[in-house]
Order: sequence, then structure tokens, then C-alpha cells
Amino acid sequence: MDTDEARELERAYLLRLYSPIRMPMVIARGEGARLWDTEGSEYLDFVSGGRAVTGLGHCHPKVVAAVKRQADELLHVSNDFYTEPQLRLAQCLSGLFGGRCFFCSSGAEAVEAAIKLARKHGFKKSGPDKHEIVTALRSFHGRTFGALAATGQPKYHSGFQPLPAGFVHVPFNDVEALRGAVTLRTCAVLLEPILGESGVYPATPEFLAAARELCDENGAALMLDEVQTGLGRTGKMFAFQHYDVEPDVITLAKGLGGGVPIGAVIAREPVASAFEPGDHASTFGGSPLPAAAALAALQVIEEEGLVENAARLGDHLTQGLGEIQQKTSLVKEIRARGLMIAVDLDAPVAGRVKQECASRGLLINTVGDQMLRLLPPLVLTIEQADRGLNTLAEALSAVTAE
Ligand SMILES: Cc1ncc(COP(=O)(O)O)c(C=O)c1O
Repeated sequence: MDTDEARELERAYLLRLYSPIRMPMVIARGEGARLWDTEGSEYLDFVSGGRAVTGLGHCHPKVVAAVKRQADELLHVSNDFYTEPQLRLAQCLSGLFGGRCFFCSSGAEAVEAAIKLARKHGFKKSGPDKHEIVTALRSFHGRTFGALAATGQPKYHSGFQPLPAGFVHVPFNDVEALRGAVTLRTCAVLLEPILGESGVYPATPEFLAAARELCDENGAALMLDEVQTGLGRTGKMFAFQHYDVEPDVITLAKGLGGGVPIGAVIAREPVASAFEPGDHASTFGGSPLPAAAALAALQVIEEEGLVENAARLGDHLTQGLGEIQQKTSLVKEIRARGLMIAVDLDAPVAGRVKQECASRGLLINTVGDQMLRLLPPLVLTIEQADRGLNTLAEALSAVTAE
């Protein structure tokens, strides 16, 4: 299939949701940090499949083998039965964070489950008044209704009101505003430890510490959305480990399944016990195929030292970007935590830079029209990092020359 046919089929048969953001290529194959389109062009993938999912690179052989093995044995049974991959995966995640797991199929669903868990915890503690959830402006938590209400960006709300009530938004990193917002009516504070979709803005240590303290004072749960930041991307297994703060609940998805859709909520006591049988469920949640993929992915992260590699390669890329910044006035600011990197530009040319990169075989992301976002896989090599940096420098020069 070529791009013209793809566009024709999209126009005819898909809801018009993704057309403005799609790159003009049909991707056919991936291996490690590389992708190939149907025309045979090769790309270095600095976006991990587009949205920070394929941290292990594309088609990691151990994940592929686990999926094939599982597909031969059992594709699906629901949570009416026990299956070993789900239980082993829960054991493994609990070993990393503590607590107990609920599995679903995406980040938004993980956030939905966390919201319900917080509401139930508040309800059991003090009745229905304890239902407010404090989140941050500029946050992104997903597109389903609860996750959308939690998301602190009015542009995503527009046209979909009324949203579920009970969400209070405060400016990110504003400790005083947080103090004003968290009360005895609060059942949870829900935060991204590093704003991801908004452009890699880390929480300050003071903000996360205040969130923990206010949750403790008010009997609320501290829930960190690690859907994007979790599982090594920031150079720690979880982004909260950059801070001296322990959350009650984390949400995971994206990198969890090594490219196979799976999400999770992991909750520590006493919050975990708020859920009782029947309070929440998912037909596909934790079914054998995605669970086997996630189990293999976690083993690969451990065996290949990918958390450490993300930290090392993140430093290398940040240093290289700093050198590029010295040579062009187009780069204004670089923000990075491991392999979550944003580059602010001095002019509204992010789309052009992305195009110039793609035409040279490098896939990057943009946020608005003045920010580039790099989310390379955790398996990136120094050689690939340098190739990406050189290509980005060339693309910036080309755009500057226009
Ligand atoms: C922090 C965070 N939470 C939740 C989500 C939603 O995940 P999904 O698109 O899998 O529903 C995202 C997606 O970008 C995210 O970055």
C-alpha cells in the first residue's frame, strides 16, 4: 500500500481524528530503533512508535517470542479464570512498586481505574463528600471522560461538556495553589511527575513533597500518572524515584507491553483495599497475550539494563543538543529527563523541522509549533544517538536557511 491509497482509505473509512497529524508514510516493518515504510525507506525512530510506547525498540525478539508462544497456547480468557501470565505479571510489578495490580488495555483506562479507586477510598473513609480530585493545569491523563476531566487542558474539554464533576485544577508546580486546593473533601491528588504531552516539564521536588504532605494531612491518596514516565524512560524505573516521595498509586501503560496494548494501576495499602469485588473490571484486562508480552518486556528491561541505558543515552543526547544549541539561535531551551526530551525553538517552525528530519530519515515529534519532542527507545545506541543528533542539526540548519 502506498501513501495515496492509505489516504484514500482513511478518507473513506476512518473517523477524521488523526488525519492532520499523520506522517505521509505507510509503516510496514520495525526492528530496534529503526522503521521501514512500504517504499523501502528507513527511519531512525526517535518517538518510540510515535507516543513513547516501544521503549524496547520495535519487535524485540524476546517479546515477539513470548507473544508467539502465548498465541500458540491461549489467546484469551477473561477474569472469570486464573491465568499464569497475569498472576506472574502482577507479582513482578508488585516486586517493583509494592501493592496490588489491576490490568486494562490503555493509559486512559488505567487513569479511569485510579480515579474510581480514589473515589471509593474517599467514600469509605468519609462518605460521598470526600470525592474531589486535584490535578494540574497543563496535565494530560487521557481521552475517556474521567481522564479527560482530570486533564488540565481546556482545549481537550471543548465540545465535550458536561464532564464528570469533582476535578480541581491547580497550576503545575504552584505549591501555594496546591495548599489552597487540597482539603478534607479531596480523595486524591493526581499528577504526572513530569508533564509529558505538554512538553517535558518536571515537577519540582517541593511540589511533589507538598502533594504528599497534603494528602497525608487530608486522608487523600497521592496518585502519580506514570503512563509515559514509567518503566525506565526517565532513567529510573519510575519517575517518582527522582524524588524523595512515595505515591500510593501509580498508573502505567505505553511501554509496559513492549508494543502490545496493556495498562495497569498499582496501588499500595491502605488505598488498595478500597476496591471490593465488582467495583471495577475489564474484559480484556490482563488477558494472557498482553500479560505474557509485558512479562517478557519487564524481563528485557532488567536483563539489558535499559533503565541505566536510558539515563546514559539521555545524558549523551542532552549534551549533544547543548552543542547544537551553541551553534544555532533557533534552539532556545532543552528540557530532559532520561529519554524524555523537549527542545523549545525560537520560531514557530517545529512542523518544518519535523518534516526536514523525516526527509533525512529521522522521526521526531512536535508539541505546538515551537517545540520538538524526542522520545527514543531505551535500546538506543550511542551511534544511533549521534546519527539522530547530526540529522537534527542538519534539519535545523535547513530550516534556518529558509
Ligand atoms: C501521562 C499520560 N497519561 C495517560 C495517557 C493516555 O494513554 P492512552 O493514550 O494509552 O489512553 C497518556 C498518553 O499520552 C499520557 O501521556
